[in-house]
Amino acid sequence: MLEFMPSGNPFQDPLRFERRVPECTVVIFGANGDLTKRKLLPALYRLAYEQRLSPGFAVVGISRTPMTDDRFRENMRESVARFLEDAPFDEEVWTGFATGLFYMAGDVNDPVCYQRLATRLRAIEETRRTGGNVLFYLSTQPSQYAAAARGIGAAGIANGNGWRRLVVEKPFGHDLESARVLSDALHEVFNERDVYRIDHYLGKETVQNILAFRFGNGIFEPLWNRRYINHVQITAAESIGVEGRGSYYQEAGSLRDMIQNHLLQVMATIAMEPSATFDPDAVRDERAKLLRSIHVMKPDEVAANAVAGQYGASRVGAASVLGFREEPGVDPQSRTDTYAAATFFVENWRWAGVPFYLRTGKALPKRASEIAVQFKEIPRILFNADPVTPQMPNLLTLRIQPEEGLSLSLMSRVPGTRAETHPVDMSFKYGEVFGTPSPEAYERLLLDVMTGDASRFMRRDAVEVSWAWVTGILEGWKTQGVRWLPEYPAGSWGPVEADRLIQSDGRTWRIL
Ligand code: BG6
Repeated sequence: MLEFMPSGNPFQDPLRFERRVPECTVVIFGANGDLTKRKLLPALYRLAYEQRLSPGFAVVGISRTPMTDDRFRENMRESVARFLEDAPFDEEVWTGFATGLFYMAGDVNDPVCYQRLATRLRAIEETRRTGGNVLFYLSTQPSQYAAAARGIGAAGIANGNGWRRLVVEKPFGHDLESARVLSDALHEVFNERDVYRIDHYLGKETVQNILAFRFGNGIFEPLWNRRYINHVQITAAESIGVEGRGSYYQEAGSLRDMIQNHLLQVMATIAMEPSATFDPDAVRDERAKLLRSIHVMKPDEVAANAVAGQYGASRVGAASVLGFREEPGVDPQSRTDTYAAATFFVENWRWAGVPFYLRTGKALPKRASEIAVQFKEIPRILFNADPVTPQMPNLLTLRIQPEEGLSLSLMSRVPGTRAETHPVDMSFKYGEVFGTPSPEAYERLLLDVMTGDASRFMRRDAVEVSWAWVTGILEGWKTQGVRWLPEYPAGSWGPVEADRLIQSDGRTWRIL
């Protein structure tokens, strides 16, 4: 068994990260929004609690609501205490952290906002000795990203004494063309090397562990190819519906919302070649190369390889659940997919002919995300000679959430006198083995940006190639006609068409 014994308070264990954040100011546009309250401030507070932040660290929150610094601090205190999840809230740490929180009311579309920000940044640089390092975080409506970048540029604060970096939240456009337009607008002001496009799945513990697992062990990599692997399934299931995000979601749909970014990035990490070094661009080159090797479906290939679905009203236990078209903010005639499944192939020497099945959906029976790598069947001899009791092929599952961990299923002989075998699991869970909670994805990703490590962020070329793949499917769905959109009852595992998709290859979805 693996021994790992951190001492004392696991959150303040110095081994947990060796990286520390240099002096800097984080400017959050959209400081009154959900992301700031639920994710960004709790993540920054955790870094403070872990003693990763420098004493001069500062945050400037910007949104339209007028508010004093003190009011902002009070609001953030409530949010942090509420959304910290498993980490402790410590009054003393908070008090120190809160002295670096500032607020400015301002409109992203108003040039005056950036002039005032410039003055504020100069004052903070002087009083808190931040060395002029600034991270601009765009947590606004995506339609405001370009205006915000231009405003920063026009006010002359995209450059300064220290580094200047820009963080953008998805969606990065809604198709290939709009993604290009957005990147061009950001590049008017920032170099690609300073643009950090967040994909929070790349910050999740299990996703990070994929590379350590593949390239830090000797036994898997020789098997990691079409000779030994039958297929791969990647699932991101959510039990919730669209939860108040109806108007955003009906423009996006599950293919754009989850597959174009999160699941394709996970797949690229599972399937990429080893990078020569840990250099961020070396890693991102390999992910991008893999994405470029995916076969882009032609419209007439889509019907056989991609399925959409939309959840309809149903009863789950005693409760009745709304269908997607009845959700607030959703057009009652909406044809948006809340479920998507697709099969695709990587056209390279390692993976040719191995299907990768991806599926994601809202209002499914549970929240569960995993990667399952199914190895090939053993020959039909010896233990596998009887066609009535075929041996289960080996299966490796990497569980992204909940209960991050991995498990390898093997066949073992059942004790006794008969030559009978039974599947058994070799497994481990992070929580049990390491004893320390995994850092939340945003905490790790913010730390990455502040220390200048872009390896877990989406580069422009990767975003565009993912859009090419997704756009092929969207066009195919369009030609199948507006009448075509299978419905599944909320609380079920998606439309029967998705089962048929995988069954037509002689396989089935894993039961999670
Ligand atoms: C977001 C999507 O990127 O990821 C949401 O926009 C989705 O629709 C969320 O619910 C899922 O993230 P997680 O970390 O809960 O799996």
